Amino acid sequence: MTEYSTSPTGEKFRLPTPEDYSKEFERLKRLVDDRRARGLEIVVVMGLGFVGAVMAAVVADAQDKDGNPTKFVIGMQRPSTRSFWKTPFLNRGISPVISEDPEVPFMINRCVNEKKTLMATYTYDALKLADAVIVDVQCDYLKESLGNVRDGRADMEALEKSIEIIAQNINAQTLVLIETTVAPGTTEQVAYPIMKKVFKKRGIEGEALLAHSFERVMPGKNYVASVRDFWRVCSGVNEEATRRVVKFLNEVINTEKYPLTVLDRPIESETAKIVENSFRATILAFMDEWSLFAERNGVDLTKVINAIKVRPTHSNIMFPGPGIGGYCLPKDGGLGVWAYRHIHGFEDDIFKITPLAININDTRSLHVAQLTRDALRNMGRPIASAEILLLGASYREDVGDTRYSGSELIVRRLTEMGAELRVHDPYVLHWWEFEKQDEYPGNSHGLKRFFRGQEKLKDLRVEQDLKNALEGTDAIILAVRHKHYLNLDPDEVVGNAGGPIAVIDCFGILDDERIKRYFELGCEVKGLGRGHVKRIKDQVREKREQILIDISVKEEKRDLSLSSEDLELLSNGCKLGTED
Ligand SMILES: NC(=O)c1ccc[n+]([C@@H]2O[C@H](COP(=O)([O-])OP(=O)(O)OC[C@H]3O[C@@H](n4cnc5c(N)ncnc54)[C@H](O)[C@@H]3O)[C@@H](O)[C@H]2O)c1
Repeated sequence: MTEYSTSPTGEKFRLPTPEDYSKEFERLKRLVDDRRARGLEIVVVMGLGFVGAVMAAVVADAQDKDGNPTKFVIGMQRPSTRSFWKTPFLNRGISPVISEDPEVPFMINRCVNEKKTLMATYTYDALKLADAVIVDVQCDYLKESLGNVRDGRADMEALEKSIEIIAQNINAQTLVLIETTVAPGTTEQVAYPIMKKVFKKRGIEGEALLAHSFERVMPGKNYVASVRDFWRVCSGVNEEATRRVVKFLNEVINTEKYPLTVLDRPIESETAKIVENSFRATILAFMDEWSLFAERNGVDLTKVINAIKVRPTHSNIMFPGPGIGGYCLPKDGGLGVWAYRHIHGFEDDIFKITPLAININDTRSLHVAQLTRDALRNMGRPIASAEILLLGASYREDVGDTRYSGSELIVRRLTEMGAELRVHDPYVLHWWEFEKQDEYPGNSHGLKRFFRGQEKLKDLRVEQDLKNALEGTDAIILAVRHKHYLNLDPDEVVGNAGGPIAVIDCFGILDDERIKRYFELGCEVKGLGRGHVKRIKDQVREKREQILIDISVKEEKRDLSLSSEDLELLSNGCKLGTED
């Protein structure tokens, strides 16, 4: 049966058949012979995902002091129905990943079509031609329950398989650089033994040249710079591997401005990545309890954080938003905790803070559903069958990456509670976690399985027109600090909605003026970490009561003239409940 892979744009590509492989290898050999003759080194990048596609282009764009290209890069993507389309896309010069950084498509097009230093293939035979291989395949952490990262495991399958295939194909002098974020110990205790065994079978004497250097990719406007113009840490399994990885990174990364840190052993480089991300996950998780404290004690956490931030030693204190998403922070600490037992064989439990931080972050957004329920209740509207508009699907501001976003959990929980959800996000065209919720993300490990009543979410589509999305809504949830949401005018929002609504601010988006205005318009406002909204509500209520007193005085004096503002506040104020 002929199999196809369909691109996100809907284009269908036939998967290669056995006959295609030999022809493809002949094509590769011709190209490689030509580039080698011009003095270029051959680099294979395995895995053309978010990281691999851009790293491949950065390497292909490298040049010597005279401006001549130094590397010919073959991006290697396995021909699965899910991912094969990336190969023909890249060969046309089209980026297989969508990025807000205009340099991504520009650089890929330049390297493929002008410099001719970048191409993609589906055949592992490409590895036979490589001087260096970069491994950028995924290494997931699969969680078995919501809010308990210990109940899970590292999914090493793609990585182990890749390493085995690499060892079967490369020559002994090929540098293998693992960039995948791995459980600490993986390079030396998982990958190296695999390579050693395969090399032995192939009769190759000598040690594999294996190294680790992690990516610090940041989605967003500076995507390319976060790969190329940023500090790197690296280490090899032996002296020669370390020498080679240092030489390679010096040739492709801007190490003059961002010097390399060379560590003694790969486990140190691997641990650096995990600690770096666990640190960030922890400082965010730590704010969750203070966020609740703030909500219950009339404190505006955003102002507290800004007050602390002026102290240079505390400048990286952060407001956590509705959960901590993205591909890395929710899983990386889990890889470390898992490695301690399953790679290093320890039985005791030394980890307290790292798993706790992930568990807090993984469930923080559920509180948003409670705030929405309470705000609607205060307006006399039940959550069941309420129309709710979520503003922002991605995991951080001004990017289109929805992986493990807190917004997903908000939608799932509110749906479970009977609400009808709509979504707006200017950066997200398809929210695959819902549209393809039975197959994405893979390994049947989507968040759907932790909630009931999720079937209808397959039909959830991301609205691009905010005005349309607002029409007839009972509540809006400001979930992400996209620039489009920072200055929304309350009068317009309420006007487009067709009347007073509940407004839930998850990310310190509303200033006090806007909060006040929403209350004046008869809306209910709640926010993560924003306990002071109650004070503003009381002020609006007091003002309304004062107007009522004024009316009765005027009535006594038989003078019933009222300003239009007072009239408006009075009529909207009737809707202002007394509950908190
Ligand atoms: N995305 C980020 O922001 C980010 C940041 C820093 C580090 N990282 C790390 O980088 C690594 C890669 O992440 P990503 O976001 O690019 O993942 P991804 O899932 O987007 O990409 C992985 C790619 O590898 C391919 N692949 C898997 N097995 C293969 C094989 N045997 N041969 C060829 N291709 C294969 C997959 O099909 C996919 O295209 C992860 O370890 C991640 O933790 C990611």
